[in-house]
Amino acid sequence: MHPLRRATPRRYLMCPPVHFDVTYAINPWMDPAKPVDVPLALAQWEDLRGRYRSLGHTVEQLAPRPGLPDMVFAANGATVVDGRVLGARFAFRERAPEAAAHLEWFRARGFAEVLEPVHVNEGEGDFAVTASYVLAGRGFRASPLSHGEAQEFFGRPVIGLDLVDPLFYHLDTALAVLDDTTDEVMYYPRAFSPGSREVLRRLFPDALTATDEDAAAMGLNAVSDGLNVLLPQEAAGLFGPLRDRGFTPIGIDLGELLKGGGSVKCCTQELRG
Ligand code: ARG
Repeated sequence: MHPLRRATPRRYLMCPPVHFDVTYAINPWMDPAKPVDVPLALAQWEDLRGRYRSLGHTVEQLAPRPGLPDMVFAANGATVVDGRVLGARFAFRERAPEAAAHLEWFRARGFAEVLEPVHVNEGEGDFAVTASYVLAGRGFRASPLSHGEAQEFFGRPVIGLDLVDPLFYHLDTALAVLDDTTDEVMYYPRAFSPGSREVLRRLFPDALTATDEDAAAMGLNAVSDGLNVLLPQEAAGLFGPLRDRGFTPIGIDLGELLKGGGSVKCCTQELRG
């Protein structure tokens, strides 16, 4: 018997890929020599937004800014837990100005607790929120010092996890939260150091683990509302195991945005509480 799955309405922040491009390479997925089809990227992104809305979720929008081609990856701009907003501080100067755009958005909307961080963190790129923990990646982008900063600000235990494979440079390329009321996640073990794998096995002994193929299709870059799991359509190997656990997988085509090294989760920042 599967535990009973239930979708809960979510509030997401997204930014349309109007200025999307690959003009620099800060992760191995990016190749500036490959052309990008902006109208196609926009259509794929609008499809994702439409899926969220048809599932009953609220999608807020951040105005895209010229010269910030990665701004579509809105998950990286902040982390919001219990209505508290921890801003981002980007590792690469190419993306640095995105942090202020996010902070301005939150301040203009009356979020009272907004922290501009001292240490480098790329929002939900490296922070994943479960019922009991904030899981926090490090190794490529977020500074390990950002973990303590997040723990102090959110008052939740932060679990540091070491990422070791440059293809999985953000935690959200290697791990997804499936149910944030019961601490259920799926992840790709080989993206993590041996010690971090052991930590994940201890915390989530029943977790779904992804194959090389599904991880390489960015299958872990998924968003769940507790029932529906939106993930790259190419990660077909995850669909059966998700269904077996009582989830409804929904394949999404974000092929153009994958050229920037991101997919469903990267485009989606969750506004919690
Ligand atoms: N080109 C972006 C970067 O490398 C992609 C970010 C993807 N976002 C994510 N949450 N993993 O920073």
